[in-house]
Amino acid sequence: MYLKNIILNSFRNLGKVNIEFGKGLSFIIGENSQGKSNLIEAIYLLLTFRSLKTNYYEDMISFRSDFFYIKGLLIIKDKNQVIEVVGEKGKGKRLRINNKIQTNPDYLGNRFPAVIFTPENYNIIKGMPSHRRSYLNFQISQINPQYFHNLKQYNKILIQKNIILQERTKNMDILDSWDQQLIEYGAELIIKRDMVVKKINSLMKSIYKNIISHEEIDMVYKTFIINDVLSDKNKIIDIWKKMTLKTRNEEIKKGFSLYGPHRDEISFFMNGKEVKSFASQGQIKSILLALNLAEIYFVFEESGEYPIVLFDELFSELDNKRIENIFNALPKDIQIFITEVDKSKIKSKSGEWFKVEQGQVKKD
Ligand SMILES: Nc1ncnc2c1ncn2[C@@H]1O[C@H](COP(=O)(O)OP(=O)(O)OP(=O)(O)O)[C@@H](O)[C@H]1O
Ligand SMILES: [Mg+2]
Repeated sequence: MYLKNIILNSFRNLGKVNIEFGKGLSFIIGENSQGKSNLIEAIYLLLTFRSLKTNYYEDMISFRSDFFYIKGLLIIKDKNQVIEVVGEKGKGKRLRINNKIQTNPDYLGNRFPAVIFTPENYNIIKGMPSHRRSYLNFQISQINPQYFHNLKQYNKILIQKNIILQERTKNMDILDSWDQQLIEYGAELIIKRDMVVKKINSLMKSIYKNIISHEEIDMVYKTFIINDVLSDKNKIIDIWKKMTLKTRNEEIKKGFSLYGPHRDEISFFMNGKEVKSFASQGQIKSILLALNLAEIYFVFEESGEYPIVLFDELFSELDNKRIENIFNALPKDIQIFITEVDKSKIKSKSGEWFKVEQGQVKKD
């Protein structure tokens, strides 16, 4: 899968852009604040319909316009896919694929998977637990439509249940019925999260150890149910039901649901110690890149297709040896975009070069 062409209009500081990319490496070069990250963000939005920095699409419309437009030509297994994303002030953002407006655009499933590194990725380790949950939800939803559906249902039911709890109800039948549904969907989420974290972790561990550094790293899924039953749906449901009944009065008192995957966590460890409280910047970046590499192979194993890879600021903080090892660990038939300020840092002989200057992108 690769992005052959992109057309942009009024996306952040980028003006009218129309460029062709090659199948492999593309280096996006430019001085600070010229529009490199904006180009990465536009590609990411095109592929996933998600924005990186903001939940509010109007932020992505150029200050000088009242809409933005992105159109991309993707080649997947020799077939053309034309994707268009439009954001209009006051009217929301829309997605069209091959000229057909998408009525459920939030879900893209495994159609256009993307793996991205941006400075925001530090939140996966250093940010709030909600960052890690949404990271995990995105990784799984990219390859599993059922998970995305279960997650939506779970969140809807959770809101309904919390409303009932906040009414300080004494109607236990209503709570029973919300709990039953919550637990049913929640158990599915837990099983899938446990499976995916284990898969990505085993890929990430060996990538880190063999390619980046000898240290032992681990990503661990933490939920409220003991680890050894996480593959057994009936057991999860059984344990969860008992916990809920036991703590019902407390839930009514507090006005929210105490147990469930909405409070899950993932933690990162290096040589047995929690990464967020002691690792160096370079180590954290190395772990995040090992995670990216693991995601690439994970998407491939699950979907048979390599994702498109976007690296915004790959080179900073890493020594040359680590950069070289990371490059060598990337699969050969994969499209990769890399931004960089300083051209001389890039040792690669292959690839195409693009220059971003004051919102204009040109082939170099
Ligand atoms: N909606 C918008 N309309 C116009 N300009 C915007 C909008 N949003 C952001 N910008 C501007 O776009 C410029 C380029 O930002 P971008 O993050 O792409 O820079 P960059 O080339 O990645 O720089 P750096 O090397 O510092 O990371 C910034 O000056 C930013 O303020
Ligand atoms: Mg940038």
